[in-house]
Amino acid sequence: MAEHTVSPSKLEQSISQLRCIGCATIRESPGRNFRCPACGDLLEIIYPGWRAEQGIQAARLEASALKTLWRQRRTSQLAMDQSGVWRFREVLPSLGEEHAAITLREGNAPLYELPSCARLAGMQQLYAKHQGMNPTGSFKDTGMTVAASFARQEGFRWVACASTGNTSASMAAYAARGGMRSLVLVPEGQIAWGKLSQALDYGAVTCQLKTDFDGCMRVLNQVVQRMPVYVLNSVNPYRLEGQKTAAIELLEQFDWHVTDHVIVPGGNLGNSSALGKAFLEMKELGLISTLPKISIIQAEGANALVRTIRETGGKKLIPVEAHTMATAIRIGNPASWKKAVRVLEATSGTVEQVSEVEIALAKAEIGADGIGCEPASAVTLAGLKKLVKQGFVKSRDSVVLILTGHLLKDPEFTLKFHRGDLFAGTRHEKEAGILSAQQRAPIVLDANVDPVLKVLEQAEKEGIR
Ligand code: F0G
Repeated sequence: MAEHTVSPSKLEQSISQLRCIGCATIRESPGRNFRCPACGDLLEIIYPGWRAEQGIQAARLEASALKTLWRQRRTSQLAMDQSGVWRFREVLPSLGEEHAAITLREGNAPLYELPSCARLAGMQQLYAKHQGMNPTGSFKDTGMTVAASFARQEGFRWVACASTGNTSASMAAYAARGGMRSLVLVPEGQIAWGKLSQALDYGAVTCQLKTDFDGCMRVLNQVVQRMPVYVLNSVNPYRLEGQKTAAIELLEQFDWHVTDHVIVPGGNLGNSSALGKAFLEMKELGLISTLPKISIIQAEGANALVRTIRETGGKKLIPVEAHTMATAIRIGNPASWKKAVRVLEATSGTVEQVSEVEIALAKAEIGADGIGCEPASAVTLAGLKKLVKQGFVKSRDSVVLILTGHLLKDPEFTLKFHRGDLFAGTRHEKEAGILSAQQRAPIVLDANVDPVLKVLEQAEKEGIR
């Protein structure tokens, strides 16, 4: 066997190519908008070396070497090794030089157990991988470190994105670290304050456009035709390469056992596509032998993928006019829908939609497990409850929820929830009655010990945590 063993450096040198997901043409350059000039479909990154007869065999032989190498890097002092993304650089497009990476030591996001959420969902056990524990508080950092590094390597001075908030916060941070300027287009009045304030602090030129996310995307596409700016939305396939490492890290955290299910929120559908790509590649390389079912959950008011699957079998996108308080996923015309459909088909996953009240309830329940997340992330728990009821997920199955953003991204939502104001005056007001058990409004008191003790006694009696 020894003479067949290939050192990890062999994979490190594997060359990546850009390929159209529609007509499969190989493209030399991503162009301005990362779409195929012939058919208009998105591009993806492939590694042709892995497909060659020899390549697969070589990769299989060194699967265990890769696992060891990736684990060893966790104790290294090198920036590239401390990054939970570049630690997996053998399966990423290679930057010319190692120090070319712009890294904030992203990735390395914790895996938590959610015992009380498990009970509420009817599961024996439940896990959350909290991508909100990244440097700017969302999963976007794992993709941004890769795409921003390639932008700088290509010599761009400006990077730009349309965003519901997290992409802009992340892009602004990585651009600043990498010495580039950044242009942010966000829908006015539709993004959480935490995210907007991050973009400002990291020095982005921030434009609040009087439109929605899909309108911002449209304007961005026009900007890039006129100015040499590099797009850092998830249409950029380098973003997805970075984001896929969360799945590899997850496998590592489970000691390379594959869970039965992975449940992901769906907005523009880049993240679900990226995670699915990773699992498929890990299988192709022989690091795992089965796949988890990847299921995608959307808000009822922003359910383009759910409708696309249910009404056309995934053949034709049904765009919607998006409305949801989970502003991160308020997207009606998801760019990566074809990639996501492919992942659903390849992993036998499903789609589900959840209501505004279900999202708010699930968010508070995740908070009560001491974890917390932003509203868009909570669709995963709300969706899981439905999938358990439908029998798609069995109570003994192993399930991981991908929590995509940090609780502090959107404090306004949380405060309104606990004060009981979130649904006041909306058509959800009646349904929201079920939330009262989760609501813990701050209590205003005189600055004396007695009223505080009284509140404490009352809470003890009621068993409120
Ligand atoms: N969760 C959070 C917290 C997000 O910010 C997003 C997307 C998603 C889930 C959905 O991920 O788009 O890959 O399907 N936010 C983008 C943004 C669109 O601009 O920050 P997706």
